[in-house]
Amino acid sequence: MAIFKLHVNGKTREVDVAPDTPLLWVLRESLDLAGTKFGCGIAQCGACTVHLDGEAVRSCSMPVSAVGTGKVVTIEGLSEKGDHPVQKAWEEVDVMQCGYCQAGQMMSAAALLKKNPNPSDEEIFTAMNGNICRCGTYVRIREAIKKASTVS
Ligand code: FES
Ligand code: FES
Repeated sequence: MAIFKLHVNGKTREVDVAPDTPLLWVLRESLDLAGTKFGCGIAQCGACTVHLDGEAVRSCSMPVSAVGTGKVVTIEGLSEKGDHPVQKAWEEVDVMQCGYCQAGQMMSAAALLKKNPNPSDEEIFTAMNGNICRCGTYVRIREAIKKASTVS
């Protein structure tokens, strides 16, 4: 075990965990931020996506020791009142079905729009390609990203 000081959602949080603990489990188990989901555990589904210094990363495959002083943002910290343009567009389009994949989808979409506020369909496809939705909400996800892109 070792002490790590993590910058998560604008706060410094201290955890005492094994250095190879995936960031996902630190978020969910140690910090009680359960919005980030476990899907595959091998960086193949995107359910665990969070931001590290603004980049979308797979927290299931990132050891906590690799986070360093990077700023982590989870779905809980994406906006103060759930009113990030992506969150609003998701609601307007009624994207969700079971909802399990959607925190990861929104985090990937928010990272995309931050870099590229007006992405083409192809750019959306490329950026979102690693986020799997078993319910097949892909068409609505693309529509919501388009909607959010006009206000980001
Ligand atoms: S749980 Fe991390 S990519 Fe699937
Ligand atoms: S909404 Fe069910 S897995 Fe995506």
